[in-house]
Amino acid sequence: MKNQGGDIRDKTSLTGEEVIQLNFINDSGKYFFRKHNRQGMRSHVLEVLSTEDLQKETVGEIIDGIRLYPRAMPKYMLRILRNRFRTLEETLDEIKTYNLVLKFLGPECIALSNEFIVEYTLAGKSEIVLCGLQEYVHGAILDPWGLVGKNPLETFYQSRFPSETFDPTRTEKGRDSIATFVTRMRKMITESGYVTDLAGNGNLILTSSGDVKLVDINNIIQVSKDDTILLDDKGYPSCDKSIEVLWILEDKILKTANLSDDSLYSHFLSVQRLKKVRILEQEFFKSLSS
Ligand SMILES: Nc1ncnc2c1ncn2[C@@H]1O[C@H](COP(=O)(O)OP(=O)(O)OP(=O)(O)O)[C@@H](O)[C@H]1O
Ligand SMILES: [Mg+2]
Repeated sequence: MKNQGGDIRDKTSLTGEEVIQLNFINDSGKYFFRKHNRQGMRSHVLEVLSTEDLQKETVGEIIDGIRLYPRAMPKYMLRILRNRFRTLEETLDEIKTYNLVLKFLGPECIALSNEFIVEYTLAGKSEIVLCGLQEYVHGAILDPWGLVGKNPLETFYQSRFPSETFDPTRTEKGRDSIATFVTRMRKMITESGYVTDLAGNGNLILTSSGDVKLVDINNIIQVSKDDTILLDDKGYPSCDKSIEVLWILEDKILKTANLSDDSLYSHFLSVQRLKKVRILEQEFFKSLSS
């Protein structure tokens, strides 16, 4: 009997075994689903591994007479959104927002996803669930608040990819990719009035070859034009924090001149506004722990 044990949208996590039990998953036996070690609040994120790679990880493979156990790398990420869509139109609107982000950021700056709508059956009832089969981005989390040193990008590479063969152009490539990302995101803000959540943990990943990619593609927020500090569906001031991320990237990595004259940043990063945002942020973290 498939789909036992409650609604997947309410569960804190899903195991691979639970995923293959879902009515909309056709288990061919070629792939294995594994819960990713990082999870967010809005979706279940599962690694899609080939059974062949998993076999090598568990029983090992002999290379040059030595048995090695290479970690299986995801072929894709399966994302199952927790949203409760009431109508098909609402679900299609969610896909439209992904397409909007893709239009502005382009495939270079976003982890591409094939979004698909499924009919999820539970206790004889049918529900609409949105899933995505997404490109896996192999890299390290770019934490804007963790950028340190005179040359933060080089420090980042040294600490995050210490064993990688040193590519002397990696900092330059990373910088170029971040510059492209910032320009495109700013264009999206100006032209659409929306920004994606850049502040969430792990939302931006930088690869060892210097490509920055947004992986959290389903969290798009309206940009406030006045003094109102907009909160997202979880009560977090995502818009303000995302603009702050853009500022950090420009300030610390791109070293853009005259940032204080920039109207976007002077609006969002005024001392008074920052104070209010900090209080809202603290309230959000308090609500998580209570
Ligand atoms: N395609 C991907 N490649 C690599 N890592 C990913 C990918 N998708 C998600 N992740 C990682 O999984 C974690 C959760 O992803 P994400 O932030 O998108 O979750 P969410 O539940 O959709 O959103 P939220 O963070 O808004 O609650 C993040 O740390 C992210 O880095
Ligand atoms: Mg996230």
